[in-house]
Amino acid sequence: MLYMPELSISRSLSAIAVLTSGGDSPGMNPAIRAVTRAALNQGIRVYGVNKGYSGLIIGDLHEMSSASVTNIIQRGGTVLKSDRCEAFKDPSIRRQAAEILKSHGIEGLVVIGGDGSLTGAQLLAEESSIAVVGLPGTIDNDIFGSDDTIGFDTAVNTALDAIDKIRDTALSHERLFLVEVMGRNSGFIATQVGIACGAEMIVVPEYPVNINQASIELADSHSSGCGASGIIVVAEGPVPGLTYRLAQELGQHGPEPRVCILGHIQRGGQPSGHDRVLASCLGTAAVDHLRAGISNVMLGIRENQVCEVPLRDVVERTKKLDRRLFDTATLLHK
Ligand code: ADP
Ligand code: F6P
Repeated sequence: MLYMPELSISRSLSAIAVLTSGGDSPGMNPAIRAVTRAALNQGIRVYGVNKGYSGLIIGDLHEMSSASVTNIIQRGGTVLKSDRCEAFKDPSIRRQAAEILKSHGIEGLVVIGGDGSLTGAQLLAEESSIAVVGLPGTIDNDIFGSDDTIGFDTAVNTALDAIDKIRDTALSHERLFLVEVMGRNSGFIATQVGIACGAEMIVVPEYPVNINQASIELADSHSSGCGASGIIVVAEGPVPGLTYRLAQELGQHGPEPRVCILGHIQRGGQPSGHDRVLASCLGTAAVDHLRAGISNVMLGIRENQVCEVPLRDVVERTKKLDRRLFDTATLLHK
């Protein structure tokens, strides 16, 4: 259950905009729906920006109605599309973006994206008069200040469903599989999925693996026959595919494991109930915060409470992967 803050409304806004940026995530549509409906129900016009910052800088935005977000709460992806836009790193382009928003009478912007998008949001908030509120829209769950991100739960369940299927063939053939999951330089998806699937081992960037030690532990668990799952979950790291190198290294100490890279299926699919509720609450809270005259923050979740995190902290600080949580999978496997 999530708890929403009570805010005193101090600003009458005529129009706001919403955009999705960076890697898309399941739950972005429920968030767009919540921002739109919450604002319209308070008499505030809403503009949807297409393709993230790429659309913003060319004025690719359109006024939304309640009907614009009908029947999207259950849909994966983002009806506003998303993009990566290097040009937005240029301050003059950000000034152009702010002018485009103002020319439409837009006073507030909700940015739904990962740490890169929230960096752009912080700069826009600091460099212009536009009030900006960010929402953590990424499957990675690597956003400082929030226990959760929109899309993480769905991605974990998608990966888990795939791994349970891989486990069937691993057990049938008594093979070891290295399953690579997304998360870029973070191991939050790998750790959550590793615990949920009963992995023999989890490999994450935060806690580098010792190949010799790992090989000995794997050999022990397979020789003792203690319910080896045949699954090692590997976080992809900076680029996908590095798991093949790990397989080769492990293969020098025993049978070479098979590799399965889950890839972009983790980014799609219908958002889970958890992500729909999370997105709906954060989207509504984003409008409330703009109406309270608050800007330059991201809204996240801490101990089931919607919380404000200064965008500067989101950008400059790193979320830590709890070591005890990480060790739990290995502890419980034996
Ligand atoms: P994510 O938001 O999922 O982390 P990216 O890291 O690709 O995805 O960032 C998405 C977009 O955010 C970038 O394409 C760019 O438009 C904007 N962005 C990222 N970093 C910066 C930055 N340092 N300054 C301004 N804009 C940025
Ligand atoms: O940030 C979300 C994410 O899915 C990462 O986990 C992954 O490394 C990256 O995006 C992939 O980016 P792209 O879809 O541009 O290849």
